[in-house]
Amino acid sequence: MEQNKKMAFSPSADRNKEPILNVLNEYIQENKRLLEIGSGTGQHAIYLAQHNKTLQWVTSDVKANHLVIKSYLKENKLGNIHGPETLKIGVDDFPKGSFDYIFTANTLHIMSWKEAKTLFKLLGKRLRAGSLCFFYGPFNYQGKFTSPSNDEFDQLLKSKDSKSGIRNYEDILKAMQSSGFKMIKDHEMPANNRLLVFERLTHKK
Ligand SMILES: C[S@@+](CC[C@H](N)C(=O)[O-])C[C@H]1O[C@@H](n2cnc3c(N)ncnc32)[C@H](O)[C@@H]1O
Repeated sequence: MEQNKKMAFSPSADRNKEPILNVLNEYIQENKRLLEIGSGTGQHAIYLAQHNKTLQWVTSDVKANHLVIKSYLKENKLGNIHGPETLKIGVDDFPKGSFDYIFTANTLHIMSWKEAKTLFKLLGKRLRAGSLCFFYGPFNYQGKFTSPSNDEFDQLLKSKDSKSGIRNYEDILKAMQSSGFKMIKDHEMPANNRLLVFERLTHKK
């Protein structure tokens, strides 16, 4: 399992964890519950939860990633990290219970757009007014890449899976608004990434 974990180490998650923490800390309040979708290795969960000790952080991912996440969590025993829960968007519902926050990093360009739309609908169904969603990753604006490296990254993604690809900010905004969310802020992040923050409204528009 040790070898498995080492192979799964994500250098990018290690690089971006601190800038992500700085933004999340503008929003996260005491004693709340967060669901992470597509935890990957669990590196974000460990770093972000250990800097927010009263936050209950629930990790989740497709079953195939659970071994790696469990291995990371075992090595970094933190009382406020839970899971991993099995959650494949398009197949599973969210875990039971209510969540104040949803965090997902680098997943919207991996899952298909159909799955992403299913996620946005689930968010509208499962979150209460005032809950926040954090989407981290690269996004396009009006169909345009924000850097040549994102263009190359998109080509790489599509060569691996034709349904993957960097998503348009405007499409996400429209789908989230239809699910009852308003945009709070689009944060610029290092390395041509963004962190989008949405809030669930009381009523759908
Ligand atoms: C590029 S990795 C990102 C991992 C981690 N969040 C990070 O930023 O390092 C993409 C993650 O999305 C997950 N994923 C892909 N499709 C998914 C789906 N339909 N439902 C849930 N997770 C999915 C993968 O299993 C993987 O963990």
